[in-house]
Amino acid sequence: LLKIGVLVSGNGSNLQAIIDRIEDGTLQAKVVCVISNKADAFALERAKRHGIPTHILDHRAHASREAYDVALVDLLRSHGVRLVVLAGFMRIVTRVILEAFPNAVMNIHPALLPAFPGLHAQKQALTYGVKVSGCTVHLVDEGTDTGPIIMQATVPVHDDDSEDSLSARIQKEEHRAYPEAIRLFAERRLTINGRKVIIEPSY
Ligand code: GAR
Repeated sequence: LLKIGVLVSGNGSNLQAIIDRIEDGTLQAKVVCVISNKADAFALERAKRHGIPTHILDHRAHASREAYDVALVDLLRSHGVRLVVLAGFMRIVTRVILEAFPNAVMNIHPALLPAFPGLHAQKQALTYGVKVSGCTVHLVDEGTDTGPIIMQATVPVHDDDSEDSLSARIQKEEHRAYPEAIRLFAERRLTINGRKVIIEPSY
């Protein structure tokens, strides 16, 4: 069974969607740990409700991004994690994590990448005036929201949308797309640009 480690900073609705798909049997995987850089993340509460081990790893207690990521890798490895899932984890990860989990770090972003990377993607979309937006699940590389795209889903942008109303519409799609992308990984059916992704180490 694919062992997933989920990194969070906030509400954890994507974590919840993943847990729900595992519990209803549509996703064959196990969330073996949830790690937050914020002590008050509601995602931790969600994990506990489902009996999933949680950790708070405060980035402020580490001298550099790399030092923080070494601690993250240690923790993820101690749980036997094979796929690292960033679910509202508001930190940029370094090559320390990417080298420890080659082709096995996923992120979800609330826009149709490569449009509107970085923070406040929904606001960027509204300000630009696009008529369609959505979400993107991608493998993480060293850039910000630049890695190979696994899956996207679109939503309309309405003239009277606020950041909140657009975010809510996008989140609905996130909750479908993220478990689906993880399922492709778990079933070794992930392809990027038409090529099968080699998943290492084996699980
Ligand atoms: C999601 O909408 C996700 O796309 C976004 O944070 C939200 C987390 O929600 N991620 C980013 O903006 C990453 N740059 P959740 O905690 O309810 O899953």
